[in-house]
Amino acid sequence: MLSTKTARRIAALAMATLAIAWAGTSAAEENYSRKGADTCFQCHDDQATLAVFRSKHANPSDPDSPFGHGQLQCESCHGPGGDHARRVRRGQERPAITAFAADSVASIAEQNAFCVECHQADTGAAWHGSTHDINTVSCAGCHSSHAERDPVLATSTQAEVCFDCHQQQRTQSMKPFSHPVRQGKMDCTSCHSPHGNSADTLLARTDANRTCYECHAEVRGPYLWEHAPVAEDCGNCHNPHGSNQPGMLSMRAPMLCQSCHSQAGHPSVPQDARGLPSNLPSSLLLGQSCMNCHEQVHGSNHPSGSKLMR
Ligand code: HEC
Ligand code: HEC
Ligand code: HEC
Ligand code: HEC
Ligand code: HEC
Ligand code: HEC
Ligand code: HEC
Ligand code: HEC
Ligand code: HEC
Ligand code: HEC
Repeated sequence: MLSTKTARRIAALAMATLAIAWAGTSAAEENYSRKGADTCFQCHDDQATLAVFRSKHANPSDPDSPFGHGQLQCESCHGPGGDHARRVRRGQERPAITAFAADSVASIAEQNAFCVECHQADTGAAWHGSTHDINTVSCAGCHSSHAERDPVLATSTQAEVCFDCHQQQRTQSMKPFSHPVRQGKMDCTSCHSPHGNSADTLLARTDANRTCYECHAEVRGPYLWEHAPVAEDCGNCHNPHGSNQPGMLSMRAPMLCQSCHSQAGHPSVPQDARGLPSNLPSSLLLGQSCMNCHEQVHGSNHPSGSKLMR
């Protein structure tokens, strides 16, 4: 956190370079404030607001930044604030300015438009019509624009931002077997593309398997003997957000395997040599279960590996 003193100093420094650069006066007809950020500071000089001067948005030498030469400073994001910044009489209501919050006077689409104006290239055409766009998630729903470091951009802090809305994934990430997201070694964008793309469920690659192969090339094959559900979708057996089963399996073997394979050939009830029910341990059901024999679950390259046993 910035101390108020440091924050003021940064602001003062920044403003010294900015005073000449304020463009609002030439756009007076659109009702911008008279002195840009200087006007806003009369009432908004708290640390949270001033922190914006430590963010990439306040780079005065970047002509494209809100605080670059000739730009609209605070009002390039918040929109014209001339009326809002004027003195109001006691009891009179202050005209509102665009806030990036649920109770804002501006719709989500209007709020996003301020950001997209400068970030068309970053969010890309895919944003429009993407799941987050359709469900009216705002840019500010994920991005903290005043923060020196935007938490959603760092691996160690990103998941918390997403978990705010995605409780189910939070719960799954707490399970004993999961990708190291909680440990800050991976993040949601290891697999997802939050701004949208042409893939289902905002996946980073065109489908789930291609996304997984990025890091698990060893299960990509091609195999001489393929196991059909593997080539189809890793999600047939794994839950990538976390699970109570070792290996992030969605169920334990033999149930997992028997959710597709008939029990007829390989009974899951322990039996003796004559095929009668028995209470002796069964190799089909213990430990690695089916994988005791079919250990190449992802596919086999052995000439006689058709039953995925070698
Ligand atoms: C004369 C004082 C004054 C000035 C100048 C002023 N504001 Fe405000 N602003 C307020 C007050 C008071 C509020 C609290 C909202 C209310 O109760 O109307 C507010 C609220 C806001 C909010 C919404 C916060 C929320 O909680 O909804 C934003 C954003 C904002 N101001 C931005 C600006 C910007 C940008 C400028 C400069 C263009 C500016 N303000 C200039 C007094 C001022
Ligand atoms: C890059 C765009 C951007 C710029 C530039 C910007 N803001 Fe903001 N501002 C936001 C967003 C987005 C929020 C919502 C909170 C957040 O994301 O951090 C916000 C929140 C606020 C709030 C409300 C904070 C609260 O309590 O909810 C105030 C007041 C405010 N800004 C004032 C300003 C002032 C004054 C400036 C200029 C010094 C400024 N903003 C510059 C985008 C911007
Ligand atoms: C006037 C143009 C302008 C506006 C408006 C604007 N930005 Fe930016 N933004 C920039 C520039 C310039 C950069 C710095 C790019 C760089 O350094 O690569 C930037 C950087 C960013 C970054 C990367 C920050 C980082 O630390 O790497 C994010 C995220 C971002 N903006 C989001 C937003 C959001 C969300 C809004 C709307 C609330 C917004 N921007 C409004 C121009 C703008
Ligand atoms: C669902 C959360 C989410 C939403 C909504 C979202 N973003 Fe992002 N944004 C991210 C994440 C996460 C990253 C980091 C991408 C990465 O690590 O691959 C990012 C990166 C960025 C960057 C930096 C790009 C770079 O390469 O440095 C900009 C700029 C940006 N977003 C702007 C926007 C704008 C503008 C909007 C609204 C139209 C928006 N974002 C909506 C999550 C989001
Ligand atoms: C290892 C890759 C991976 C990581 C990391 C990951 N996901 Fe996913 N996620 C997927 C796959 C694959 C799907 C598609 C599952 C499906 O369609 O059944 C998915 C689906 C989703 C869905 C849609 C769920 C549904 O039921 O429709 C949400 C929401 C989601 N992920 C959020 C997150 C969040 C939030 C994070 C970060 C905490 C995250 N994911 C991290 C791979 C991943
Ligand atoms: C402000 C709330 C909010 C935040 C923050 C948020 N999301 Fe979402 N997300 C939604 C909503 C709403 C949906 C659509 C309904 C649903 O599937 O739950 C959605 C859907 C998704 C989906 C499923 C897409 C599909 O097509 O089925 C994925 C994946 C996802 N979000 C990932 C992320 C990631 C990754 C982050 C963090 C970088 C994130 N979300 C942050 C609200 C949010
Ligand atoms: C960005 C890299 C990355 C991507 C993409 C990725 N993983 Fe992983 N995966 C890892 C890491 C790192 C581990 C942990 C390895 C460890 O703990 O030794 C892991 C572990 C696993 C494990 C083994 C867990 C165990 O207990 O041995 C499974 C199963 C797995 N991932 C499945 C998937 C699936 C399915 C996908 C696609 C939806 C996927 N992974 C995408 C990096 C990734
Ligand atoms: C038919 C079910 C099934 C499918 C589909 C499947 N796996 Fe597996 N996977 C398993 C089993 C069973 C294990 C062993 C778990 C254990 O060690 O307890 C495993 C283990 C793993 C491991 C841990 C390391 C290893 O090789 O033992 C990784 C990584 C992995 N799978 C990735 C993937 C990926 C990526 C996909 C999609 C291309 C995929 N799996 C599809 C059943 C499956
Ligand atoms: C999502 C469904 C599904 C799951 C789960 C599944 N399989 Fe399969 N498995 C198949 C399909 C489909 C085939 C291909 C059958 C064919 O070609 O006749 C197959 C083929 C096989 C074969 C080769 C059979 C042959 O006749 O060549 C073996 C062995 C096998 N699976 C074992 C397993 C084991 C062990 C598990 C648990 C780790 C498992 N399967 C989980 C669907 C599944
Ligand atoms: C003790 C070793 C062993 C265990 C444990 C085992 N299998 Fe098999 N399985 C075999 C052998 C040997 C064959 C080949 C039979 C043949 O070639 O006629 C086979 C064949 C198969 C086939 C091919 C179709 C068929 O019936 O011939 C499937 C599917 C299969 N096993 C699934 C499973 C499942 C599911 C489990 C766990 C419930 C499992 N196996 C446990 C030894 C085992």
